[in-house]
This record gives sequence, structure tokens and C-alpha cells, in this order.
Amino acid sequence: MKPFRVRELNSTDTEALLAFEIQNREWFESHIDARAPAFYTLQGVAEHIECYLSDFAIGVWHPVVIEDDNGEIVGRANLKCIDSANSTAEVGYRVDQRLCGQGLATLALKHLIQEAQMRWGLAQLVAYVYDANIGSKKVLERCGFLLERPPANDNTAGECRFVLAF
Ligand SMILES: CC(C)(COP(=O)(O)OP(=O)(O)OC[C@H]1O[C@@H](n2cnc3c(N)ncnc32)[C@H](O)[C@@H]1OP(=O)(O)O)[C@@H](O)C(=O)NCCC(=O)NCCS
Repeated sequence: MKPFRVRELNSTDTEALLAFEIQNREWFESHIDARAPAFYTLQGVAEHIECYLSDFAIGVWHPVVIEDDNGEIVGRANLKCIDSANSTAEVGYRVDQRLCGQGLATLALKHLIQEAQMRWGLAQLVAYVYDANIGSKKVLERCGFLLERPPANDNTAGECRFVLAF
């Protein structure tokens, strides 16, 4: 694999993150919920980063990006909704379509799993994935997540919940 690194999102990432999100907008929207149109501007992304970094500062979000050897953003991943009281958080990730299948989502998720344990002292991670998202389910399974059987009264048709308990 070419040299890629996972690092924390920072406030100077606005242009690189906007380029990444515009380049992959259709790709992401075919797998995950669409962002508001206002997001796709320098101001929209700057506000998005500011919001993520302030949530990082108060310990409820841990945003990282995957960077290539030219310093371009080619993926991102987050620990979301970190709940210290219950020692749990959600994970999410997205990778540049042109670089999929090279292990980048797996690399980022393994990084977050380590941070979840070492930095945040969490006991469990959760991921929600559309059933048709074979690639994402493969990433989760490879990182040790297990598919949770939905409750009988489940009304989230088409969505699967995966859990990793440490
Ligand atoms: C899901 C996603 C993050 C995976 O990123 P990635 O960097 O390609 O992931 P990895 O390379 O670590 O692993 C993906 C695996 O799934 C496989 N895969 C992907 N699509 C597949 C498909 N349709 N059928 C079978 N296998 C598939 C890949 O071949 C790879 O397995 P391998 O390493 O054994 O070859 C990326 O496809 C993406 O950004 N999708 C859009 C956003 C998204 O769905 N995010 C997740 C929301 S839960």
C-alpha cells in the first residue's frame, strides 16, 4: 500500500476536505444520507470542521482524516456520540471512490478502535450500515464487529447494527 496516514482533523483542512467531499459527493450519496447543499462551500465546510473540533474538545466526537503522501484528504472517519457514562460511541467512515478496496477504511477504523480503548476508555462501539453496503459490512466484520440481531418490533428496515465489545 502507498503511504497513507490517519491523523486528527484540523482547522486548516477546509479546502482539502471540500475538494474530497465534492469529488465524492455522488458516491457517498449512493451509500449514506446526503448532506445539506450548503455544506458544499468553503463556509459550509469551515463551519462543519469548527463544529467537529469543538465537539472533539469536549470529548463527544473524535474526527480523523486519511491523508495521502501529497497531503490530500482521501478518506475520513469519526468516533461519534462518545458517551463516557455508558462507555460507548458510534463509528462512521468514508473513502475516496478512486481508492476503495485498498484497505483505507480498515486502516482508519483500526485507528479509531485503538483510540476508543486507549484514549477514551470505551467498552463498546456501534455502527449502523445499510444492508446493501457490502464493502462497509466487510470492513466492520474484519475489525471484529458482530451483526446484532434486530428486535422483533424493529422498524429500521434495510439498516443493520454492528457492535464491537472490548
Ligand atoms: C465503505 C467504504 C468506506 C469502504 O472503504 P474501503 O477503503 O474500500 O474499505 P477496505 O478496502 O478497507 O475494505 C473494503 C472491502 O470490501 C470489499 N468490497 C467493497 N465493495 C464490495 C462489494 N460490492 N462486494 C463485495 N466486496 C466488496 C473490498 O474488496 C474490500 O475487501 P478486500 O480487502 O477483502 O478486497 C467505502 O466504500 C465508502 O466510502 N463508501 C461510501 C460511504 C460509506 O458507505 N460509508 C460507510 C457507511 S456505514
